[in-house]
Parts: sequence; C-alpha cells; structure tokens
Amino acid sequence: MTVEGSTMRILAVLGSPRGMRGNTGRLLEEVLKGIRAEGAETDLVSLSEAKVGPCLGCDNCHKRGHCPIDDDFEGIKTRMMACDGLLLASPNYIFNVSAQMKAFMDRCCGPIHCLALEGKYGAVVETSGGGGDEEVLDYMQRFVGALGASSVGGIGSPIAGIRTFPQESDLFEAARGMGRELCRSIRERREYPEQDSARRAFGERMKSLVMHMKDFWTYEYEYWQRRGRL
Ligand SMILES: Cc1cc2nc3c(=O)[nH]c(=O)nc-3n(C[C@H](O)[C@H](O)[C@H](O)COP(=O)(O)O)c2cc1C
Repeated sequence: MTVEGSTMRILAVLGSPRGMRGNTGRLLEEVLKGIRAEGAETDLVSLSEAKVGPCLGCDNCHKRGHCPIDDDFEGIKTRMMACDGLLLASPNYIFNVSAQMKAFMDRCCGPIHCLALEGKYGAVVETSGGGGDEEVLDYMQRFVGALGASSVGGIGSPIAGIRTFPQESDLFEAARGMGRELCRSIRERREYPEQDSARRAFGERMKSLVMHMKDFWTYEYEYWQRRGRL
C-alpha cells in the first residue's frame, strides 16, 4: 500500500520489558499481521532493547528542538516523524503504561508542543493480568491525540495464561482488523470529527503555552511561526 507514491510505513513502539516474547508482543503481532496484509511496511521499536531513559526536564527540546540525552530517543523520534502511522503497545502496569513506555511518552514532550504528528494516524494495544484495559487504552489514545494525530482505535485484553487470551480467536481477528483499519484510515485520509474539538482545544493550549514561553522556548516558537499558526 502506498501513500502518495511511497510505501506506507507504520512505526510500532512496544513498551514491555519482555519485548515480542511477552503477552503484549503476542497481541501486537496480530495487529502487525493486519498492517502487513494491507501491504504497509512495519518498523518495530522494542523498548526492551532500545534505550530510552526518563526525561530530565532540561527544556532543551523546547529551546533547541532536540534532546541532549545520549540514548536512542532522537533516532526513534526521526523514525516517528517519517512514519504514516504510529502504533503504541504497552502492558498494564498499576493502572497505567509501563515505565519504559512512560519514559518514551515523556521524551515526546517537544513533539507534543508542536503537534508534530498532525494529519497522521495512530492506534494502541494493551494487555493486563486481570482487566482495567480501557483506562490504559484511553490514556495511550489521549497521547496519540496530544501528538496531533487521529486515533483509529485501541485493542486490549486481560490474559488467560502466558501469551494466551480469553476468546483468543475473536480477539486476534479484531487485532488484525485494527491493523487493517489503521492503514485504510491513512490511505483514505479518514476524518474523526468526534476527536476534532478535543484536538483543537489541546492545540490552542499548546499555542498559548509556546507564546507565553516564547523568550525561552525559541525552537518551538519559531516552529509555530514557520507553520503560520501564530
Ligand atoms: C510491575 C507490574 C505491574 C502490573 N500491574 C498490573 C495491573 O495493575 N493490573 C493488571 O491487570 N495487571 C497488571 N500486571 C500484569 C501485566 O499487565 C500482564 O501480565 C501483561 O500481560 C504483561 O505483558 P507483557 O508480557 O507484554 O509484559 C502487572 C505486571 C507487572 C510486572
């Protein structure tokens, strides 16, 4: 599947310390099958291998547009900026994403201020030991929206054992379906009007924050100016 003549690329970021051998990796595998069935390319970042440390709050991303921490984040950010769709997958760790995924999300503070994925699409995947899936899926979908992207959907489930799930064949079919829907949304440039008002309100919030901090956060101020939004 192509987007404006080039092959569609989906970046998947997996936050489980067990990588693709874990439960979340198993469910993600099915979503990736759906994506590949649509002819799109997948690019996988497993935070069990890639090093992404916690944000140090130095504001360099706001001031200069890059993170000075010497790890894999800037490389992943480049891949994220080049993708057509973003897929996030995390286990449920105490009602939230894993620390690895949260570190990645926090490091995206600069891209969030710039709504850097505006016009792109995202989807999310989660697994839990015993439920509470919706609140983690909602949180990850909110993150996708904060990057400026449209959220196509989320799939989550408690486990039934190691890498097994209740009603597994239905779950896996839905997971592959979500992968296909992500690609079709990108290809058809689908609109999600129910997300518009939240995205607009968040965008206004980011704009006034960047305006307020314009003497300090020069990179972000100039970025918004270049986009003709100030
Ligand atoms: C530190 C930690 C915290 C967890 N917290 C929860 C939780 O709050 N609720 C829940 O249902 N499962 C919880 N679990 C279970 C995992 O969400 C579940 O086993 C998940 O499928 C693991 O995915 P993985 O194999 O991809 O890492 C927790 C597991 C760990 C290790």
